[in-house]
Amino acid sequence: METISRTKIVDVLQSEAFGTTVNVKGWVRTRRGSKQVNFIALNDGSTINNVQIVVDVDKFGEEYLKPITTGACINVNGLLVQSQGQGQNAEIQATEIEIYGTADPATYPLQKKGHSVEFLREIAHLRPRTNAFSAVFRIRHHMAIAIHKFFHERGFFYFHTPIITGSDCEGAGQMFQVTTLNPNNPARTEDGDIDYAQDFFGKETSLTVSGQLEGELAAMALGAIYTFGPTFRAENSNTPRHLAEFWMIEPEVAFNEITENMQLAEDFIKYCLQWALDNCMDDIQFLNGARKHLYKNEDMDDLVERLRFVLDNEFIRLTYTAGIEILEKAVADGHKFEFPVYWGADLASEHERYLVENHFKCPVILTDYPKEIKSFYMKQNDDGKTVRAMDVLFPKIGEIIGGSQREEDFDKLQRRADEMGVPVKDIWWYLDTRRFGTAPHSGFGLGFERLLLFVTGMANIRDVIPFPRTPNNAEF
Ligand code: 4AD
Ligand code: MG
Repeated sequence: METISRTKIVDVLQSEAFGTTVNVKGWVRTRRGSKQVNFIALNDGSTINNVQIVVDVDKFGEEYLKPITTGACINVNGLLVQSQGQGQNAEIQATEIEIYGTADPATYPLQKKGHSVEFLREIAHLRPRTNAFSAVFRIRHHMAIAIHKFFHERGFFYFHTPIITGSDCEGAGQMFQVTTLNPNNPARTEDGDIDYAQDFFGKETSLTVSGQLEGELAAMALGAIYTFGPTFRAENSNTPRHLAEFWMIEPEVAFNEITENMQLAEDFIKYCLQWALDNCMDDIQFLNGARKHLYKNEDMDDLVERLRFVLDNEFIRLTYTAGIEILEKAVADGHKFEFPVYWGADLASEHERYLVENHFKCPVILTDYPKEIKSFYMKQNDDGKTVRAMDVLFPKIGEIIGGSQREEDFDKLQRRADEMGVPVKDIWWYLDTRRFGTAPHSGFGLGFERLLLFVTGMANIRDVIPFPRTPNNAEF
């Protein structure tokens, strides 16, 4: 076979170099046709669109073409010609075909369209080869790029925080332990407790639930930073919005007050959504239709409208207390919630979505939550009851961002940590920021997969991360 340098299908489809010989390589989506001529739809992942390979059956022989079935990988040289068919610019008349790898139709699981998302999760090693999941993962890439661009353009520094940690940032006790002690026979102290002094790090360690505490250290030096990395939570919540391993973006900005933090969050999300519209339209439009089959739900909103709607509207800002009043009124008017509504209650997803979808019909930033339901590090308000927290609530998703202004006063912070049972000995270094040159500062965390749920229109968080980690599920 003649060696010609490969062209990606995304470029072939836009090329007008008709009459030249090109090389493409990819996986067969379908092969159909007659005894004389076959049409292979070939995809190499560079775009949702396939290139059509036109094959003269006599030239290659029926026997030779037989193994070119759905899922097989082939290497094709051919003449680029203007497509006769509608919608596509260019197609390829094959001159040479090499078969790299076959995919036996008797065993290759991706034979037909219309597999359920549940089935596809069981074959997560192959699902990137479906149109829908390749679209999701291309969008995932583009969103990561948008995030780095947004912060870079604004002078934020990308700061790497550790994955293995000795402190529980959120204080919620949902950490996965990291240890090299023998689980069957761990070293023990004289009292019979596990002797972590003999563990790998000489102390008890876990996978981080958040990079925030270290992010704050950096903001107190570099001014404005963001983290973007994996975080881990051993919360046993089997919901369409929770993962045990998810990616979080956490900006932290010195001198920002809560109002500036809110504006940053709104600008940030809008930048990402605009980026999706500008760079991922083919994939978004594909998913707009595909997700209805994937989730067997014809009654889904229009994705492009969904994104434009958020871009065109200011996020509503209101306090937790005002939010509770709206929810209490809803209950009084006969609306039924599963979980009770009262001042002091942690909001469930149903409450958040009521505010966003039923009441305001718009993204909402809720602030000033009761201190009992928020983390120790949040700035305490003068009322003694609330803290300067902010949650950004989104239609379909509920909470997409959680953040706050931070308590910059050493004594108040230490007292609150004590009250909430956060071991001060583990976070002496964090408290040091308040001892030396403390300053007002704020930040937040965006759940990357929650953003992707919104952008892709997928209905389950397991379907926007390549290899989801959830209770009883760590295959692949
Ligand atoms: O509200 P959270 O717990 O806030 C923090 O971790 C802060 N340290 C952030 C900060 O201020 N720097 O989590 C932030 C976001 C949530 O709003 C949600 O989008 C996402 O992380 N998130 C999850 N996403 C998927 N699966 C889970 N189990 C998640 N838990 C939180
Ligand atoms: Mg939160």
